Amino acid sequence: MGSQLLSWRSPKTEVRQSPIHGRGLFAAAAFKKDEIVCVKGGHIITREQLHDVNTRLGPVEIQISDELFIAPVTDDEREGAMLYSNHSCDANLGMRGSIMFVAIRPIAAGEELTHDWCVTDDDTYRVECQCGSPKCRRIVTGKDWQRADLQQQYRGYFSSYLAAKF
Ligand SMILES: C[S@@+](CC[C@H](N)C(=O)[O-])C[C@H]1O[C@@H](n2cnc3c(N)ncnc32)[C@H](O)[C@@H]1O
Ligand SMILES: [Zn+2]
Repeated sequence: MGSQLLSWRSPKTEVRQSPIHGRGLFAAAAFKKDEIVCVKGGHIITREQLHDVNTRLGPVEIQISDELFIAPVTDDEREGAMLYSNHSCDANLGMRGSIMFVAIRPIAAGEELTHDWCVTDDDTYRVECQCGSPKCRRIVTGKDWQRADLQQQYRGYFSSYLAAKF
């Protein structure tokens, strides 16, 4: 019995090795601005449950509210729930609602599909970024959503729970 596909990735996407990190999501064909690229599925879990999920499955979640996350919870579910979108400080994906990733500008075939963690995360981490963009912030933090420049750069594309804060 195969694992269920909890997330949806457009048939115009492909997963392959990324220069940013591990595997990444790539456009196999062009996307128009605001076209849906992928949708995150999984179980709705609390921060406490997330700790256990991250220990077993690694980083597999998307934050959808201050205390809630959506993620696979078993090994079997992992592959079908992963979107493989890496972080970029000059991302081409943003959020519509809480789980839907859309193109924030026209995207050409071959481009890596990335989102900026500032549009989904409200957390306490500090991570050294490997995105390689000229706009790279070098250190990405879980509070970047509070930055006025990023609120401007990704205006209209923040996860709903974050957009409600500013
Ligand atoms: C959900 S995974 C993305 C898919 C991942 N590349 C893979 O092969 O499974 C998120 C993880 O990818 C890594 N990552 C993604 N973007 C990154 C970036 N810009 N800089 C450094 N690490 C990144 C981090 O380890 C992060 O926890
Ligand atoms: Zn960066």
